[in-house]
Amino acid sequence: MHPAFLRELSTIMDMSGTAGCEKMKTPGNMRRRLQALSWLLLVVAVGLGVHFTIQFITKGDSAHSGESPAVPKILELETTNPERARKARAGMHRYDEICRLCHHRDGHGGRFTPSLAGKTAIGVETMLNLYRDGHKVGPMTELMAPWAKELSDEEVQNLGIYIELLN
Ligand code: HEC
Repeated sequence: MHPAFLRELSTIMDMSGTAGCEKMKTPGNMRRRLQALSWLLLVVAVGLGVHFTIQFITKGDSAHSGESPAVPKILELETTNPERARKARAGMHRYDEICRLCHHRDGHGGRFTPSLAGKTAIGVETMLNLYRDGHKVGPMTELMAPWAKELSDEEVQNLGIYIELLN
């Protein structure tokens, strides 16, 4: 074959080679991008799902923000029984840290958590001690007991005093 023709041929083959590669590359890249995008969408969807499930379980409304409805009673108690008021405040801090998530700001409970409304300090202490001692109380004992087990005697007492004031 004529060398010029061969050169020509090889140039054409090179070009088609490159063109072919480009053709192959683009869908590959697209597929990878689409894959990355669908992973991202999946992660976002799962995140939203978890978020709304937690909201659903805990009812989500204003239960987790805002001042405790017991504050006026604590202020009143400060003038009559400062020591008890101090304990109530300590109980309030602990309640907001742990218990509020499930039992709500006002203690009225959520879809799957019981209301603490109307409980006396002694009543709360008694229940918390049952959970601390490892008794099976209700069908959802496993959900509640670990939190109770973290509490000291003093914290149990403070929480009782505080929850009584929530009513
Ligand atoms: C993860 C959610 C969750 C958290 C956090 C939580 N609780 Fe509970 N609590 C529950 C559930 C669920 C029950 C019902 C358990 C059962 O079936 O025995 C319960 C039950 C109780 C009861 C007994 C109510 C009754 O039926 O008389 C008291 C009192 C109580 N919780 C107080 C607290 C206090 C105080 C805290 C914070 C230290 C707290 N809980 C934290 C979910 C929670």
